[in-house]
Amino acid sequence: MTTSRYRGNPEALRALVQPERVHRDLYISQEVFELEQEHFFANTWNYVGHDSQVQKPGDYITNEIGGRPLIIVRHTDNSVRVLMNRCAHKGSRLVSAPAGNTGKFFRCPYHAWAFDTDGALRAIPLKNGYIGTSLNDCESGQGLVRVQNVRVYRGFIFVKINDAGPDFEEYFGESLSSIDNMADRSPEGELEIAGGCLRFVHQCNWKMFIENLNDTMHPMVAHESSAGTAKKMWADKPADAPKPMAIEQFVPFMSDYKFFEDMGVRVYDNGHSFSGVNFSIHSKYSGIPAYEEAMIEAYGEEKAHAILGLTRHNTVYYPNLTIKGAIQAIRVVKPIAADKCLVESWTFRLKGAPPELLQRTTMYSRLINSPFSVVGHDDLQAYRGIQAGLHASGNDWVSLHRNFQENEIGKRELTANGTNEISMRNQYRAWAKYMTLTMGGEA
Ligand code: FES
Ligand SMILES: [Fe+2]
Repeated sequence: MTTSRYRGNPEALRALVQPERVHRDLYISQEVFELEQEHFFANTWNYVGHDSQVQKPGDYITNEIGGRPLIIVRHTDNSVRVLMNRCAHKGSRLVSAPAGNTGKFFRCPYHAWAFDTDGALRAIPLKNGYIGTSLNDCESGQGLVRVQNVRVYRGFIFVKINDAGPDFEEYFGESLSSIDNMADRSPEGELEIAGGCLRFVHQCNWKMFIENLNDTMHPMVAHESSAGTAKKMWADKPADAPKPMAIEQFVPFMSDYKFFEDMGVRVYDNGHSFSGVNFSIHSKYSGIPAYEEAMIEAYGEEKAHAILGLTRHNTVYYPNLTIKGAIQAIRVVKPIAADKCLVESWTFRLKGAPPELLQRTTMYSRLINSPFSVVGHDDLQAYRGIQAGLHASGNDWVSLHRNFQENEIGKRELTANGTNEISMRNQYRAWAKYMTLTMGGEA
């Protein structure tokens, strides 16, 4: 068995991505997965949490990017800091809880070295033992490793582990308009994580999940048994019968090809995209009058309607965050192995909005995105089928030819027909770029 086909070989990695198709090793090679953890996720901007999860000084959450354990903490000066969750002494993880409040400092559970919430070394037991040593001159004397590239955008906390690659604004560009729309949907312009987190292990490569977000050729096929059943159940009801929320949320998944085609997709440089340029499966939800009044009061009639009229479907913030601004739900993908990832679904409260909005959001998350969902399992079944099918021999390639045009390559922003596979081709071009950015060789 070949063990290092790709390590030290950026050319071989770039060759996995062709203009209209990608190689199966992107999904099934454990070596490619390990190189992604080492390089790709360190070179890209990744979402690590929301600032409403760390409201008070000392509040922290833990996370992991590219296999690197992280602490995201509110420092005493109120800024959000991101530190490596690794003691400066012998490397122990400092905190193991997913969230908590550490007070003014972190204290290592092994030998009690203590660190301020900005990572500075604060105290060492029996410090005299270090007199005459070179501790102060080495990394261990400098405290915790701080992640330098941190950006909080409308409450969303992103990090880039490496210094290589573009800054935050250049990396996300105009795609940030989807986060803006989600936050603007609050009469106070602010979001807050609420309603817990639903975690769903997927037995598939993480990229299958991300690809599927703007795959509009699958819903009417893969979701026929779930959304199709809901649609049939409702078929003989009078047109003016008030729809239960579950029916409102399920049925649009069974829209026809023309609906998804006309929806439109927009792609941005660096792998980002959203579907639902013109309308989406969220466009026809019934109104909540008290909410609309609060929005008009906050923004004025024209701006309130502009905000609420933008009902994008999934926006992919490549590589690890996907949001549905119109329903205030996000999903975050966490790679575990070549054939395994974790999908976390988080829901948000729109500050200043009536409680029905959060109810609608959490219901959507349960029905569509959770391990108890009936829709999410349709997708999972498809991914597992791909993960198994790609081990077949005789065809090493995955087709992404649909609506390919030569001149789409290199555009910073492009709007296309909704069933175009351009969002996936766009993701893999970014993948090849950021995977090899820190490997040297010809760019
Ligand atoms: S490993 Fe943390 S104090 Fe020793
Ligand atoms: Fe789906």
